Amino acid sequence: MRDFFLYLSERRQLENFVSKFPPTRKLVDRFVAGRTLEEAMRVVKALNDEGIRVTLDRLGESVLDKSLVEETVNEYLKILDVLKGTNNSVAVKPTSVGLDISKEVALENFRKLLQKGDFIEIDMEASRYVDDTLWIYRKLKEEFPDKRIAVAIQAYLYRSEDDIKSLTPLKPCIRLVKGAYKEPPDVAIQDKRKVDENYVKLLFYLLENIPYTLVATHDEKIINRMLDFVKERNIDKDRFEFQFLYGIKSALLRRLRDEGYNTGMYVPYGTHWYPYFMRRLAERPANVWFVFKNLFG
Ligand code: FDA
Repeated sequence: MRDFFLYLSERRQLENFVSKFPPTRKLVDRFVAGRTLEEAMRVVKALNDEGIRVTLDRLGESVLDKSLVEETVNEYLKILDVLKGTNNSVAVKPTSVGLDISKEVALENFRKLLQKGDFIEIDMEASRYVDDTLWIYRKLKEEFPDKRIAVAIQAYLYRSEDDIKSLTPLKPCIRLVKGAYKEPPDVAIQDKRKVDENYVKLLFYLLENIPYTLVATHDEKIINRMLDFVKERNIDKDRFEFQFLYGIKSALLRRLRDEGYNTGMYVPYGTHWYPYFMRRLAERPANVWFVFKNLFG
């Protein structure tokens, strides 16, 4: 089921069809906080009012057209203006700002964003982009030492342990995720339990060795293991943040907030929601029943 939905997430023709299909709107709204920046900002404000920080994501990826890349960068500059003076950040997919054109184009666009904003998180996409994304991350860390720049690392990739260790001297901010793409067995761990184990291993390393970790998982078992670990090792609450995706397990996030932990929510908005939405369906078979029930129930 997971593989099937991940396969569909990459089919552009299906995107054109599904995006125009009116009943999908209600379904998509569960995971996407509106089509416009104004709609998304209402969600951002409500979350900030209840003490939850936001990472705002303008949906879009695999953009090859130069004018669309420029449009994306301009929209992000607008978002950074709106977010100025707050503790919120933006999440940017490298392929939305030109990585499919060249890594130099994407780097130049990230520079523009960092000249405007103070806190940027770089999403990690399919494994073929990891080298270039980390190349961009290193360059930005060097050029903007005073800005907060985070990068996502995926626990399902065999290479991630080495990547984390080689980034450690840079004092990085890392968002640790399990990984959301379809990857071959020589590149990524296929067994979910083993991915979870690797997540815990990498997470414990990060908590002890880097200044700030974004703990991006909704997995309550892992969160509980981590909470035991931080208590045992006396790791300060200021060294990490729990980050959840909009529409998923928000009651647990609020409970963590009530217990005094830093919490953040990744809030996507925009019209190009199809691949993001399909990845959310792929993560959980129950979501597919939710779709069927809504469409035919
Ligand atoms: P797992 O899949 O084991 O889920 C644990 C529990 O969470 C499930 O039992 C269920 O209750 C709930 N849950 C999880 N997914 C759900 C869904 N779609 N719908 C409903 N319930 C769900 N990936 C990537 O490759 N690059 C990236 O940059 C990012 N960025 C990112 C940011 C943030 C803040 C988060 C939380 C996640 C990402 N991801 C990501 C996605 C990540 O790789 C992973 O696919 C999802 O988080 C699902 O994995 P969990 O860690 O939640 O565990």
